[in-house]
Amino acid sequence: MRETNEQTATRKRGPAEASGGTVLLAARGICKSFGTRAHRVQALRDVDMDVREGECVAVIGGSGSGKTTLTRIMFGLDTADAGTVRYRGGLLAGPRSAVMRQLRLESGIVFQNPFTSLDPRWSAGRSIAEGLVVHAARSGRRHSAGGGEAIDAAVRGALAMVGLDPDEFIGRYPVDMSGGQAQRVAIARAMVAQPRIMLADEPMSAVDVSGRVQILDALTEIRRRQPHMAMVIVSHDLGVVQQLADRIVVLHDGRIEETGATGDLLANPQSAYTKQLIAAAAW
Ligand SMILES: Nc1ncnc2c1ncn2[C@@H]1O[C@H](COP(=O)(O)OP(=O)(O)O)[C@@H](O)[C@H]1O
Ligand SMILES: [Mg+2]
Repeated sequence: MRETNEQTATRKRGPAEASGGTVLLAARGICKSFGTRAHRVQALRDVDMDVREGECVAVIGGSGSGKTTLTRIMFGLDTADAGTVRYRGGLLAGPRSAVMRQLRLESGIVFQNPFTSLDPRWSAGRSIAEGLVVHAARSGRRHSAGGGEAIDAAVRGALAMVGLDPDEFIGRYPVDMSGGQAQRVAIARAMVAQPRIMLADEPMSAVDVSGRVQILDALTEIRRRQPHMAMVIVSHDLGVVQQLADRIVVLHDGRIEETGATGDLLANPQSAYTKQLIAAAAW
């Protein structure tokens, strides 16, 4: 098997710190461009990236470096022009493929802005319960979410896990929530069906400072309680990355710039770009 460019980037940094658990999600040779020939943007150029069971990988890089495009492709929300994504060894091939269905079933996704990702007409309880109902429908087990009581217990458990009092929040609507509260409801919705892997793309960037702390606390608690779940977090907040991530992947202009264990990479960045990124970040 050819050496991946992620491994090459890792090797530049020394020992293969990225090794460890079983690979859950693997991208190879991902290329993606947008626009017409005259206005073509090459968003990703031959990117390889692995996510292993139980690890939290942070994807960092400047605005427009390809973080969202890469993670959307890896989670089956968008397709690559070239390259492959494998989930638990199976090729993600087309929206109706068995592997794509399995990934949908086993992944939880948190978007940047909770006020656009949550339905404003739905209470927190309903939004989170919907996460279970959709999961049950996709798994073909109409009743796997259990009866009303089982759903209620799962919804309350998910709210508690993100630090929201279930009695207070189960009937609350997004309009009566702060950004930090709404984003934690969105996280509870992503977590309620106990995914194997979670994606959070800039989950703090649409909220204020107190919301940032609440979301970081919620994600930290989730990491503690669900140690086998893998997490991919896109963030330019290096404080967040330092607290949550085991490993960092640095993207620059659609390419992997470098990758390494969090503490090592932040303390001892190899490339000029990463050094600049770390120096420029307020954290
Ligand atoms: N739907 C799209 N149409 C056109 N260009 C896009 C689209 N999505 C992303 N791009 C371009 O691709 C590049 C990478 O974008 P993105 O993945 O969103 O970067 P990041 O998340 O790191 O800020 C940018 O130049 C961006 O303008
Ligand atoms: Mg982005």
